[in-house]
Amino acid sequence: MSPAVRDMVRETELSVRDLIYPMFVDETLHQPRAVPSMPGVMVHSISGVAAEARKAERLGIPAVLLFGVPEHKDDEGSEAWNKNGIVQRAVRIIKKETDLAVITDLCLCEYTSHGHCGILRDGVVDNDQTLERYALTAVSQADAGADMIAPSGMMDGQVAAIREALDDAGYENVAIMSYSAKYGSAFYGPFRDAAGSAPRSGDRRSHQMDPGNRREAMREMRADIEEGADILMVKPAIPCLDIIREARDAFDLPLAAYNVSGEYAMIKAAAANGWLDGEKAMMESLLAIKRAGADIIITYFAMQAARRLRGD
Ligand code: PBG
Repeated sequence: MSPAVRDMVRETELSVRDLIYPMFVDETLHQPRAVPSMPGVMVHSISGVAAEARKAERLGIPAVLLFGVPEHKDDEGSEAWNKNGIVQRAVRIIKKETDLAVITDLCLCEYTSHGHCGILRDGVVDNDQTLERYALTAVSQADAGADMIAPSGMMDGQVAAIREALDDAGYENVAIMSYSAKYGSAFYGPFRDAAGSAPRSGDRRSHQMDPGNRREAMREMRADIEEGADILMVKPAIPCLDIIREARDAFDLPLAAYNVSGEYAMIKAAAANGWLDGEKAMMESLLAIKRAGADIIITYFAMQAARRLRGD
C-alpha cells in the first residue's frame, strides 16, 4: 500500500481534543518545582497555575485535571473542603483566565497527615465517614467553579454520595468522572512524589483493585453507572488495555483512561538513556489507549503530544 492509501485506511486517530492535562498546584510554593521522577512535569504555585493552563488552552487541549497540595495536613484532611483551599483557589483563577473545562480530583490522600484516602478508624479507612467528607469537598469544588468532579478514592458509594450532595446544592450540571476501575498499581509511585501523598504506613489495597481481577472492574463500573457517573475511568491505562476494551464494548458512557505517572516516567527514563525514541513511544502509547476504546486520555504527555499532533 502506498503511504497515501495507508493514511486513508487508518482506523484510529488521536486528536488534541481527546486529551486532559493533569496539573499539580502546591500552596507552599512561590516558584514551580520540578518532579525528579517525572522529567518535564512541574508542580505549580498558585501564581503560576493560570499561565500554565493558558498554554494548554492555546494548544487546543480542552480540559485540565487539578491536584492540590495543601500547606497544612491533618487527620481528617480538612483543607480538602476549605473554600479558600489550594484547589478551590486554583479553580477560580483558571476559570477566570481561560475557557478550559476544569476538573478537580477528589480524594483526601493529599490532605491527610497519614496519607490515606479517607478518615481512619482503628487504622483502617472508614468508608461512610469518608463519604461525608467527599460530599463536602465536592460541593466546595463546585462552589469554586469546577465543571466536573473526579472522585479517585475508590470508596463504596462515592458517586452516589457526591451526586446527591451536588444536586442538593443546586449543581445538577456539574458532572462526575469516576475513577471507577482503579487498580492498586505500582505505576502511581512518581505521582506520590509530586503530590506528597504516599501513605505513611500500610497501602491502599483495601479499596484499590487487585490487578488480577477483570470481572470486578466491570462490577465497579456498573455500580458507578447506577450511582450516576457521567464518565467512567480505567486506571492505569497501558497495563489495562483489556479492561478499557471490555468497558468500551459493555457500556455506552464516555470512557476515560488515565495514562499514569509511572507510564510517563518509564518512557522518559528510557528515552533519556537513548534506549527508545521517546516521542514515538509516547504517540504509540496514546494511540493504543485510544484504539483499546478510550474516548478521553488523561496524560502528563498532553502538552508534548498536542504539539506533535499540531505539527508545531
Ligand atoms: C489519588 C490519586 C492517585 C493518582 C491519581 N489520584 C494516587 C494514588 O491512588 O495513590 C495517581 C495518578 C498517577 O500516578 O499519575 N488522589
